[in-house]
Amino acid sequence: MIDKATIERIFAAADIVEVIGEFVSLKKTGQNFRGLSPFKNEKTPSFFVSPSKGIFKCFSTGKGGNVVTFLMENEKLSYPDALHYLARKYNIEIVEKEETAEEKELKNERESLLAVNQFACQYFSEVLYSQEGKAIGLSYFNERGFREDTIHKFQLGYAREDKNAFTRTALDKSYKSDYLVKTGLSIQRENQSYDRFHGRVIFPIHGLSGQILGFAGRVMRTDDKVAKYINSPESEIYHKSDVLYGLFFARQAVLKNDKCYLVEGYTDVISMHQAGIENVVASSGTSLTLNQIRLIKRFTHNVTILYDGDEAGIKASVRGIDLLLEEGLNVRVVLLPMQEDPDSFARKNNAQAFANFILANETDFITFKTNLLRGDAEKDPLKKASLITEIVRSISVIPESIMRSVYIRECSKLLDVDEKLLYSETARFRRNRYEQKVKQADVRDFSAHADTSPTPRIEHVPDKYSAEKEVIRLLILYPEKRFVIDAGEGSETETTVLEYMLNEIKQDELEFHHPVFNRLFQEIITCRDQNGLISDQLFIKHPDETLAQAVVDLITSAYDLSKIWKRRENYFETEEMRLKEIVPEAILAFKNEKVMKLLKETEADLRHAQEQKNEERIQALQVKYIVLNNLKINLSKGLGDRIIVTPS
Ligand code: CTP
Ligand code: MN
Repeated sequence: MIDKATIERIFAAADIVEVIGEFVSLKKTGQNFRGLSPFKNEKTPSFFVSPSKGIFKCFSTGKGGNVVTFLMENEKLSYPDALHYLARKYNIEIVEKEETAEEKELKNERESLLAVNQFACQYFSEVLYSQEGKAIGLSYFNERGFREDTIHKFQLGYAREDKNAFTRTALDKSYKSDYLVKTGLSIQRENQSYDRFHGRVIFPIHGLSGQILGFAGRVMRTDDKVAKYINSPESEIYHKSDVLYGLFFARQAVLKNDKCYLVEGYTDVISMHQAGIENVVASSGTSLTLNQIRLIKRFTHNVTILYDGDEAGIKASVRGIDLLLEEGLNVRVVLLPMQEDPDSFARKNNAQAFANFILANETDFITFKTNLLRGDAEKDPLKKASLITEIVRSISVIPESIMRSVYIRECSKLLDVDEKLLYSETARFRRNRYEQKVKQADVRDFSAHADTSPTPRIEHVPDKYSAEKEVIRLLILYPEKRFVIDAGEGSETETTVLEYMLNEIKQDELEFHHPVFNRLFQEIITCRDQNGLISDQLFIKHPDETLAQAVVDLITSAYDLSKIWKRRENYFETEEMRLKEIVPEAILAFKNEKVMKLLKETEADLRHAQEQKNEERIQALQVKYIVLNNLKINLSKGLGDRIIVTPS
């Protein structure tokens, strides 16, 4: 458990722009920052961060929240983990009591799996410095030229030859066997557990915020019978196709350079880092997936693929290019000299030499493909035709028409073909693909109904709650703001939004029917009764996620905020000047809601009384009905703020 004071310190220290800026490339617009939504694949930025309010809002998904809820949403962290993340980042000490066995059990599975991995990572790196580890693992790393600081940074480790050294230790430390198996660290066979990784050097695989999602283990001997690398199996926390090795370490450098190098292997990433090139990630051998590409796209639109000098590597990974192009990324390619991969090349060249080589050899994908295939194509018209088709296919997936025409011009020059022909071929490809997509969409529509519905959000509350929603919004945004009201008989008096509204609500026994609004209202009352200062910040940082979320939604979704945030940066200031009209109007609407509800109830009661022929009751209800109807009329004329609604 983290105590309240610590949570407050963490919130106070966390700079929301800085924190989110590590995951999303943000640009300043007026008082806010803007970028591409990390939650959705989009071309026009609809993701906003307001440093003054300490909130973010994504207008294409409706998601919004504070700095902690961002980490929870984006990094899939739990609330305490998100706080820990910030505490680490801002050097705030969290004193926590040792967890009891019971508490350990209570943690949800995901956290438990991450905890097991964290433990394993530490274990493997300690073992690397044991006698066996030094003799075998460390000396292997040293032979490969990995420096001490590099080993430390990537948390490299060693798993002993002993087939259950790790599992034994973990069970001794009371990690549950179930979790050891689910992370894949242990393999269960006939009631016995064995280590998946043994006699291998270990490469931990990090998530975006540094948590350990899984491991890769490499054999040190060359032996064709055993796989060179084995990886953690798919699990609740590790999905191979969603992870880019090295991104955690590359993030900052990718943002800074607005460029990401893409390589194939773990050791390529590590050696390039060691050579001083840090904006590099690996697809880990398999062909690039859409999720991996979208991950890169959050940080930069410029990707340079480094290909090994051997042809096999080239042929295997050329497919990735089209997928990158299709996602609208600018793709460049560097072909390394024969027999080299980024790892070996980085070891032979210093950072400057490596950078110079890239600069001199980086080409766009058309030149790359052309060079690759030109040899055959020049002599053989058929081969040339298929080369052109190949390139046009790639061009046709690029979403931006301007980019397409740039490439068409280049292709026309390089291969000496008519631009018009290239345009019409590109169009043909695009048409075909479009028709295919339409067909697929038809099929998909049927299964769409099976989707689980998203969690309901405050912005989508039914209309019947709109009045109470507005009252809560004003209470949270401007509780202490003063404004002038008409006190009757020509005199005016000054009051605060809070006092005015509480008065009206109490007098008319107005009720909040939506559970979230009701809870927020109760919190406001409690806070006022304890003489606490009510402010939107209090709720934005509320430990109850539902409330915090609701408040952000309230603040950002009142009107057409996508327009407001874009154009009227000073929206809140102008609204503040109009409190004199807005606040009484909101109360009127709230009262109106209640009167309408009472009218409906009275109508029903009347029908009931008529059925029972209860004359006395009929008369009483008729009077009530008339009173309510008059109220309704007065309310609609805007006179109702001095009328007591509840008829006795
Ligand atoms: N890979 C894997 N499993 C294997 C072989 C390869 O997961 N059995 C993945 C690893 O991510 C590896 C990448 O494919 O890093 C590239 O494979 P390869 O080029 O064979 O390995 P290197 O990364 O070059 O490793 P090393 O330099 O240690 O040989
Ligand atoms: Mn290699």
